[in-house]
Amino acid sequence: MIRLNENYSKLKASYLFADIAKRVNAYVAAHPDKPVIRLGIGDVTEPLPPVCVEALHAATDEMANRATFKGYGPEQGYAFLREAIAQHDYAARGCEISADEIFISDGSKCDCGNIQEIFATDVRLAIPDPVYPVYVDTNVMAGRTGANVDGRYQGITYLDCTPANGYVPAIPGVATDLIYLCFPNNPTGAVATREQLAAWVAYAKANKAIILFDSAYEAYIRDPQIPRSIFEIPGAREVAIEFRSFSKTAGFTGTRCAYTVVPKSLMAYDAAGAAHPVHALWNRRHTTKFNGVAYPIQKAAAAIYTPAGKQQTGDLINFYLANAKLIREAMTKLGFTCIGGDNAPYIWVNTGRDSWEFFDLLLNKAQVVCTPGAGFGKCGEGHVRISAFNSRANVETALARIAAALK
Ligand code: MLT
Repeated sequence: MIRLNENYSKLKASYLFADIAKRVNAYVAAHPDKPVIRLGIGDVTEPLPPVCVEALHAATDEMANRATFKGYGPEQGYAFLREAIAQHDYAARGCEISADEIFISDGSKCDCGNIQEIFATDVRLAIPDPVYPVYVDTNVMAGRTGANVDGRYQGITYLDCTPANGYVPAIPGVATDLIYLCFPNNPTGAVATREQLAAWVAYAKANKAIILFDSAYEAYIRDPQIPRSIFEIPGAREVAIEFRSFSKTAGFTGTRCAYTVVPKSLMAYDAAGAAHPVHALWNRRHTTKFNGVAYPIQKAAAAIYTPAGKQQTGDLINFYLANAKLIREAMTKLGFTCIGGDNAPYIWVNTGRDSWEFFDLLLNKAQVVCTPGAGFGKCGEGHVRISAFNSRANVETALARIAAALK
């Protein structure tokens, strides 16, 4: 008799964004005459930058020609892309990251979800609340938690992000081994200062712990004082892995390309206390279970590092940030306290009401989709997340409808 992985039974029946999509689709089916505007899931709407499209076309032509055709590429990614990343995303910002410490993949969601399998099943987890659900759910699947009691899994040290701490969690008073941090934050849009990140690096070092740093939204940081990479913090090479994505930087949600940085100086320990390079473990995992991102996609990603590519992606991000500003201003004017939207594409609105109720209200009265804060964790209750990813016209219409609905 085949047995199932019973850890799955501890999970909610469906993934947050699948659950929301189901509710929205049911509403659309019941009200075909009421067009819905989606500011829920953070999915880009604007076309790929022209440099990426040109690179895609050129690479596709190479694949059509026997002399330039490519079969399997390196699992870790082509050197042209890894070198461009090392140079433009790290060396240019004073970070010491070499091209062979960068692993190209088809998404940060997959990498954030998969990375945990190279660590022991009994590592102690520290996970923010509210949080991107993938960090929690993948650890539940792996059997690192107990049951969900009153909205929280046993065995996780939750890092509360609340109005009182500006939604940047405090260092826990207990030792933990695997720490998830995300800045600019999804869902709150909060950013962490250099001093705050330095405190996390010191905590990780003191505990021989590892920080999993998700910086998928780093391109949205406009405040020059805010670090864009954990590797801007001295000592981070010994304690951190960083996840980055082209999804929100260059509109690649449908094109799929991301990367994970695993410094060679990062160690994990065996039961006898001997140190082992995490880079070798991730390389083993990656080469066994992944066969690389398509060549044309990697060419398209590399194109964003050209002068024209930098200009075009900068324009794209500025466009979404201008949406974010409109949303934050409009929600503030309606009397809500908001954060995010200035260095992030998400606006975290403190509604002071049940978040699913507020979600239903916006859907039914304004035909606008947001994400209920409770879906990101217990501390998300009372909040909703509004995404800036949409056309200007849709954002303006959505804001007018919200204002009318809340009158
Ligand atoms: C979100 O809405 O939080 C994002 O779309 C998540 C993701 O990038 O997977």
